[in-house]
Amino acid sequence: SDRYCVFGNPVGHSKSPLIHAAFAAQCGQDLSYEALLVPLDGFAASVRAFVAADGHGANVTVPFKEEAFHLADRLTVRAELAAAVNTLRFDGAEILGDNTDGAGLLRDLSVNLAYSLAGKRVLLLGAGGAARGVIAPLLDHRPGLLVIANRNVARAQDLAQRFTTLAGGLVPRACGYPELAGQSFDLVINATSASLAGALPPLPVAAGCFAPASLAYDMMYGQGDTPFLALARAQGAARLADGLGMLVEQAAEAFHLWRGVRPDSAPVIAALRARSG
Ligand code: ATR
Repeated sequence: SDRYCVFGNPVGHSKSPLIHAAFAAQCGQDLSYEALLVPLDGFAASVRAFVAADGHGANVTVPFKEEAFHLADRLTVRAELAAAVNTLRFDGAEILGDNTDGAGLLRDLSVNLAYSLAGKRVLLLGAGGAARGVIAPLLDHRPGLLVIANRNVARAQDLAQRFTTLAGGLVPRACGYPELAGQSFDLVINATSASLAGALPPLPVAAGCFAPASLAYDMMYGQGDTPFLALARAQGAARLADGLGMLVEQAAEAFHLWRGVRPDSAPVIAALRARSG
């Protein structure tokens, strides 16, 4: 069977092996998929070793997505825009780098959550790799406004700047958290890594960033509300979604790149939800 893997550090809690095994069974594809723990200074060597051992493709997770971007011989347009790679395909000696995170988020929003971005006021929290990967696909869906808020405002400005020249024309705005006071949004996406440290992005207290009928979306997921979703609920967000759907959708997109078939993500999302209670 064809070999695939996810490279990460840590990688032990990755759900990707489960997700891809489910996709393979569903689509009748003969493949294996394992989680490989990579030493922090050993990413390139691990990729080469996996290619030499007849690996066909791989996912890349924390903290190697930028290194994967530099390692790839060829990049898809969306990986180029994200300046990060979460999916590799080994085409003979050539390494193709792709980024399916943004497509995963947008598919979760538009298909699974039936949320239309057209004309909506969107607030993106964070200006790191996770935020960068979703900006172009968000802009593709024609929101009315996209604000990028970050503690380090210069980072948010750099990011907004990077996406000002995209065809379609909406220019993202950048700001710090205090400037959010008095503004409200239809969709608020948490793309910070704050939750990893058990922290919250410093939204202005009780300042009504969540418009009536707004959707709060956390790229993180866990059992029950994530801390960000609990905050959003308390501040009046009407709908809450965690990142489990995005996780499965980015995997489906990677599976499609590798195998040329698109799995049905819905039963896999449902199964993961049932497992985590
Ligand atoms: P990733 O690839 O997960 O995006 P990253 O590139 O290290 O990781 O970026 C982390 C993001 O989370 C940054 O936007 C960071 O904000 P700063 O640039 O101001 O540091 C944000 N972040 C991390 N911890 C945070 C916290 N406690 N509150 C708010 N933002 C936080």
